[in-house]
Parts: sequence; structure tokens; C-alpha cells
Amino acid sequence: MPKPYLSVERMTQRYPDGEGGELTVFENASFSVEKGEFVVILGHSGCGKSTIMNILSGLADASMGAVIMDGEEVSGPSLERGVVFQNYSLLPWLTTIKNVTFAVRARNPTWSKEQVLAHSKKHLEMVGLNEEVFNRKPSQLSGGMRQRVSIARAFAISPKLLLLDEPFGALDALTRGTIQDELLKVWAGTNQTVFMITHDIDEAILLADRILLMTNGPFARIAESVDITIPRPRTRTEIVEHPNYYSIRNHLVQFLGKRSKELAGQTGAEENRPEIVHYENTKPVRGSKPKLAS
Ligand SMILES: Nc1ncnc2c1ncn2[C@@H]1O[C@H](COP(=O)(O)OP(=O)(O)O)[C@@H](O)[C@H]1O
Ligand SMILES: [Mg+2]
Repeated sequence: MPKPYLSVERMTQRYPDGEGGELTVFENASFSVEKGEFVVILGHSGCGKSTIMNILSGLADASMGAVIMDGEEVSGPSLERGVVFQNYSLLPWLTTIKNVTFAVRARNPTWSKEQVLAHSKKHLEMVGLNEEVFNRKPSQLSGGMRQRVSIARAFAISPKLLLLDEPFGALDALTRGTIQDELLKVWAGTNQTVFMITHDIDEAILLADRILLMTNGPFARIAESVDITIPRPRTRTEIVEHPNYYSIRNHLVQFLGKRSKELAGQTGAEENRPEIVHYENTKPVRGSKPKLAS
């Protein structure tokens, strides 16, 4: 079997608990992501999602285990992995266009000024921003616009892995919906591998090829990998008509409402790999459809 594009092997994270002991966020978690896949991780607040994200980005080191991407072990941050955080992370002293060109230039040091500018503009336009806002600073943009700039910048550097940590958390529902649509459009036109965190079930179903379900911590586990067997292109009004939609949604609601707690706190002496759940004609097929390597 070919090696997965991103592979997380027996990742363990422990922190001092502040009382002389230690807190195990998760232990021996293993999972993988294929090239071009859109994987969403869904779990309650505090279970360890951002911790996983920080390790994948190289901003934090796991206590144990390895992250291998495209054949190389991840160590330290790199432009190979673009990150979009909830708080946009734009540089406040740079204009919209400069927030993008600066990253594009860093990623492509041999490009001419014109190339960098054209590439940056193209990506800002892809997320629905026009010339009018290119010379504004982040403080002169709405929250939705700032989030678009972050997304444009992330796609513009074509990272091997795009990491999105609850990127729409601070937006109102309407803006959130629009930007989810923009993200889907941009993603559909690329072969970008995306790993995204959310606690919003509907957002997860709309966007993901596959949803990883995480139990509550400490000793959280990525218990299941649910294939989103709803064809693309997807729109929020059409997916609700698909026969698998309510079965999948119900599965996720049950997991977050009940099983995330029941399964919590089990120590993982052994390697933890998620069980594959694949809905076909509204019926779950568990574990028997190893479409993917994890
Ligand atoms: N640097 C740290 N030091 C100590 N504990 C931490 C640190 N970072 C996160 N934690 C703890 O790890 C757990 C998981 O946190 P986090 O990954 O932020 O969860 P999530 O993103 O799912 O809400 C929480 O109990 C949190 O308090
Ligand atoms: Mg978080």
C-alpha cells in the first residue's frame, strides 16, 4: 500500500498540570491524511484539537511520536504548512495586498515583483475581495474581510498542508456561511490538502471528505473517521436532500452528545487508530471499508 501523504504515528502530548503532576491530553494517537483530502477534526472544547494543530504546524513538539509529511519528519514551522487561526493573524501594519505579497515573496524568492503581485491579487479576488480594499490595513476591514485575507494568503503560498484552526469561530452566521462557500470554491480549484478544526457539525459536513471524531480529554482519542458520502459540489441547501445527510448528521450529534464522554478517559497503552465509519444508503458500514490508510 502506498504511504499516506501525512502520517501521525503514536503521538502523545503531556503537560505539567500545575500541581506537580501531569496532564495527558492524548496518548498514542495515530491517523493519516491523503494528498488533496479535506479532513475535519470535530470535538468538544478542551479535548486537544489545537494541540494537534500546533504539533502538525511545527509550532509545538509532541511529547512522543512522529509526524511525517510527504516522506519527511515535521520539525519546526515552515511555509510548507500554512496556518489560519481564529484571530486571522494578519500583520496590522501592512495593507491587505502587502499581507499577501510578503508571504508569497517569502515562499517564492525567485519570482519577479510583477509575478508576486499578480499571484497575490488573483488569490484575493478568488475569495471575493477587490481592488478597493487592497490598500486598506486590517483595522479598516470587517472581520469577514480579514478572514478572507487570511484564507487568500494561505492558499496563495500553496502549502503542502493547509491548517485551519476554527477559522470562522469569530464570524456571524451569515458571513460564516459566505466564507465557507468561498473556501469550498477555492479548494475545488486546487489539489490543496486541508486539515481543519471545528466544533460546528454542519460546517464539518459541508466541507469535509472525512471527519475525525475526538473524544473528551484527558486521554482523548480520535475514535472514529466518518466518510462524508455526499457528492460534490455541495451546497448547504442541496446536501440536506441527500439520503445520507441525516444519518451522518445524527451519527455526529450522537457522538458529540454521548459517546465522546462515554469513551473519554480510556488510557491508550496501545496504538489508537480511528475506526472507519462509512455510510452507504443511510446505513453505516463500520471498519470494513478501508478506503484510506488510517
Ligand atoms: N501549553 C499548555 N500547558 C498546559 N496545558 C495545556 C497547554 N496547552 C493546552 N493545554 C491543555 O490541553 C488541553 C487541550 O487543549 P486544546 O488543544 O487547546 O483543546 P481544544 O483546541 O480542543 O479546545 C486542555 O486541557 C488545555 O488546558
Ligand atoms: Mg482550540
